[in-house]
Amino acid sequence: MTIPLNHPHKYAVLASGRGSNLLAIMKAVGDGIVPTLPSLVLSDKRDAKALDCAKEYGVDTLYIDPKLHKGRKVYGAEIVRELRNRSIEMICLAGFMRILDENIVNEFPNRIINIHPSLLPAFPGLDVQRRALEAGAEESGCTVHFVDAGVDTGPIIIQAKVKIEKSDSVESLSQRILKEEHRIYPLALTALIEGRLRVVEGKVIEEKRH
Ligand code: GRF
Repeated sequence: MTIPLNHPHKYAVLASGRGSNLLAIMKAVGDGIVPTLPSLVLSDKRDAKALDCAKEYGVDTLYIDPKLHKGRKVYGAEIVRELRNRSIEMICLAGFMRILDENIVNEFPNRIINIHPSLLPAFPGLDVQRRALEAGAEESGCTVHFVDAGVDTGPIIIQAKVKIEKSDSVESLSQRILKEEHRIYPLALTALIEGRLRVVEGKVIEEKRH
């Protein structure tokens, strides 16, 4: 399909770790679900598996050393500088273990998405599967949302539910949630690339594909 030029299509994935969501996105490009590969994969960890993953797909990578750009603001400014240099229009956070400086959020209004392993607004933050189990929740899942100035608070784009079994451990629950993450993140990214998402009074409205 042809993507109108006013829609954002140059995107960067920011990841700190193993990169399974990045891989799911890149596989979805191969399957014709996501229109384009990321233009850049950026990490704050020199040895992030996500960087190797990107290289295998021929995607540009960049490691920005937090020790050379100390503090959230300075580090954020460096990210913005690098993204501007490459004319990146949107950001996909995929396990990026840093809170984004508000300057980045302001630079990309409704152009930054994140995946979180719970049904937001329940269980924002870290260690969420353990917290869901300890709370005795009957279901959990994952959420793709726009990133605003808060932590895991932006408008919700899509969610997938996962039933919690009595026998679940943190690992088994995380695995089932991750499978759903890999399914819904490419869908949300595609909707954004195709210009089908609007935020109206804090709620996301998704136009279906014609
Ligand atoms: C995922 O569970 C995601 O929901 C959370 O960080 C994890 C990243 O995993 N934000 P991966 O690096 O994509 O495998």
